[in-house]
Amino acid sequence: MKSPKNQADKSKAPKHVAIIMDGNGRWAYARNLPRIEGHRRGAEAVKRTLKIAKEYNIPFITLYAFSVENWNRPKKEVDALMDLLDNFLTDQLKELLKREIRFRVIGRYEELPPHIQKRLKKTEKATAHFTEHTLGLALNYGSRTEIVDALRAVTKAAKIGDLNIEDFDYNDLRSYLHTGDMPDPDLIIRTSGESRLSNFLLLQSAYAEIHITSVLWPDFGEAEFKIAIKDYYDRERRYGKTSCKLHNI
Ligand code: FPP
Repeated sequence: MKSPKNQADKSKAPKHVAIIMDGNGRWAYARNLPRIEGHRRGAEAVKRTLKIAKEYNIPFITLYAFSVENWNRPKKEVDALMDLLDNFLTDQLKELLKREIRFRVIGRYEELPPHIQKRLKKTEKATAHFTEHTLGLALNYGSRTEIVDALRAVTKAAKIGDLNIEDFDYNDLRSYLHTGDMPDPDLIIRTSGESRLSNFLLLQSAYAEIHITSVLWPDFGEAEFKIAIKDYYDRERRYGKTSCKLHNI
């Protein structure tokens, strides 16, 4: 079960798993700790997950780390999240290089603090040549802003004659999204029991399977990942067609 390579039908293996990491605050609250401690433990769960995704041979993993709406949190919390990110990128670069994982940011990253942008660019550049595994980090990300950005770029390209809007389809639109060089997610995992997508990969997840676990993000680890992957393999992905089991009825 560990590697999708061991599955009977390799074509069914998830190529892209995206995770809404939720529950850091509640994890801290339950222990009478400051919210920031929950985020710090959340960053540890990120490191664990990265390792597990590589071991399970998942080619693309995308983590929702900071949404466009998260700027509305208290400045102290936002600053702490940026510091955690800075530290994470500093100490994970050697891990990404060792494990041959390409790093990609999705989101409006030009609005992030300049020192973070610099570190993100450095990490992307240093890992750009890896092709087998990608870690996507959603930062200052929101599907609605992503779609607006894509539509602006499409309109610009159409105006200068770079594309013909008559032939334009979803695959063309995909290439203008922040995830343009990634496949759409097969599986979305959300921790902390909330059942919503919170402005995350709304277009890309049109046919994604969604797995909700009540586990809070700082407690997420291999056992939970395994349950989510098993749940995914148990689903029948029909893409609007009839069920295979019901074909001949
Ligand atoms: C949601 O929990 C989590 C976030 C908004 C931030 C995610 C951040 C991390 C996992 C740590 C830092 C990330 C990296 C990549 C180093 P919440 O605060 O909304 O939890 P709550 O709903 O219980 O309050």
